[in-house]
Amino acid sequence: MEYFDNWQDYWDKFLFNRYGKEAVQNEDDLFLQVARTENRKRVTQEIFDRIIALIKTGLDLDAGDILVDLCCGNGLFTYELRDSVKQITGVDFSKSIIETANKYKKADNISYHCSGAVDFMKSYGTFLPGIIPSKYLMNDALAYFPPNDFKELVFCIKSVSPHFKFLVRGVPNDELKWNYYNTPERKQFYANLQAKGDLTNDGLGTWWQPQDIKRICDELGLNCEITNQQLPVSNFRMDICISI
Ligand SMILES: C[S@@+](CC[C@H](N)C(=O)[O-])C[C@H]1O[C@@H](n2cnc3c(N)ncnc32)[C@H](O)[C@@H]1O
Repeated sequence: MEYFDNWQDYWDKFLFNRYGKEAVQNEDDLFLQVARTENRKRVTQEIFDRIIALIKTGLDLDAGDILVDLCCGNGLFTYELRDSVKQITGVDFSKSIIETANKYKKADNISYHCSGAVDFMKSYGTFLPGIIPSKYLMNDALAYFPPNDFKELVFCIKSVSPHFKFLVRGVPNDELKWNYYNTPERKQFYANLQAKGDLTNDGLGTWWQPQDIKRICDELGLNCEITNQQLPVSNFRMDICISI
């Protein structure tokens, strides 16, 4: 299978290319910048709050936790977790998005790093020597990873943290694809994307098969629990909890 290989540039320019905005100006723009939208409007406060609650329970966050938020975007969610843990490191490879995080979503116990997630975890010790994370989050970003990169990422996490929980949220589930393309027009839209070879899938990224995620975890000797999301959050994405 072919994968799109320029997601970094895609996300760097996303706010401008999709909305014609040079930079984030207000809270609504933060949602647009990381595609936290429905019909191109920011998601409701109810959905936003629900996702934050699901992250906290899914990761069983605790005041002593050291959390790494991989592909953290502009810190929209990272920031809301600051009071639930001891320390957070947010990592994202888009310079413009990390600049936004540092401008709007700073906190004493959060640091943001501009780096690819795999590169960051590969050289973790040079970034944060002596600090061992207990929890990892990746919210709505696995769709932008080829399977081998994801396997390498999980392998690095396992090497850095002897005990950990890794919550990978919002992964487009190939088995639920027709909940998303659920009208003749939407089905046609998808067919057109495929016919013109749009590897970004209009920005949604790759539809993952649950068994491919299970296989990667099995090969690394890790536990993995997969749960399909529910509306109003989504009826076509899944969440994965990986642990030792
Ligand atoms: C849909 S946004 C989600 C952002 C954030 N997690 C949230 O839930 O608001 C996807 C983010 O993943 C980042 N990203 C994608 N692939 C990445 C990679 N390999 N390493 C680091 N960041 C990545 C993009 O720059 C973008 O900010």
